[in-house]
Amino acid sequence: LCAFVAPAEAQSYPTRSITMIVPFAAGGPTDVVARIVTAHMAQTLGQSIIIENVVGAGGTTATTRAARAANDGYTLITGHMGTHAASVPLYPKLAYHPEKDFEPIALLAGTPILILARKDFPPKDLKEFVTYVKANAEKVNAAHAGVGSVSHVSCELLHSILDVKPVGVPFNGTGPAMNALVAGQVDYMCDQIVNAVPQINAGTIKAYAIATAERNPSLPNVPTTAEAGLPAFQAQAWNAMFAPKGTSPAIVASLNAAAVKALDDENVRKRLLELGSVIPGPAERTPEALAALVKAEIAKWSPVLKPAS
Ligand code: MLT
Repeated sequence: LCAFVAPAEAQSYPTRSITMIVPFAAGGPTDVVARIVTAHMAQTLGQSIIIENVVGAGGTTATTRAARAANDGYTLITGHMGTHAASVPLYPKLAYHPEKDFEPIALLAGTPILILARKDFPPKDLKEFVTYVKANAEKVNAAHAGVGSVSHVSCELLHSILDVKPVGVPFNGTGPAMNALVAGQVDYMCDQIVNAVPQINAGTIKAYAIATAERNPSLPNVPTTAEAGLPAFQAQAWNAMFAPKGTSPAIVASLNAAAVKALDDENVRKRLLELGSVIPGPAERTPEALAALVKAEIAKWSPVLKPAS
């Protein structure tokens, strides 16, 4: 009997609303990407997708919850380079493994990293920033979204290049961290472009450089780190959708098809591109490609990141 039940369930999926866990605060980059894509996916799937922001421990609290959720396709997570790669070396007692405890669904967006500062932070360009941070490493602070978050890992990389250890100021996401930066309560941050574009365009923060090989079309006036004198700092994060391990292949295929359709939609693309995201090409959108990305990213970050002591 079971052999007949499973395909019928998969065919009718989804019959009720789906919960999408976002492991950081509302309004931050992961939340924004998840909301843009899932709004379109909900139309395709004919059911609402409810975003649940579950914060804490650099996204690992939410990711643990998602790993333990029923694998019936009704609880998913939008994770990222931090929750599904950097967390492995940073948290020796991590309660999940990104590869063993999840079914990859689809890569949603690449998100270049920028070095940003409060508007009245003294350095006026990246060269001055480097000199200033080196000279004042004990006084300056860097906002981030918790140990293992993209903003934390990216600034750790920057700090290792500069050979400095400024104080980190953790938030539940770079949404609230950005509010603190705009309010001048923290000095600087390494954040994903999606969170930065609206503030840079509004003139509420400074952007020193984008850590990618090319400038981003959404921020044509922001130099690359190479142009601005720090070519060693290269960083781009990614956001992707996962289901708990054991979710049926038919459900994963249905979710992947809906995500792919969203990434092909003109309005979704316009919105993601306006915010500077890199939209994955067809070959990068499969569950297999996401599995390979997670494996490669764990291998990349494991020798670089050490657990917090
Ligand atoms: C967020 O959505 O707040 C970010 O993805 C946090 C981060 O990882 O820096």
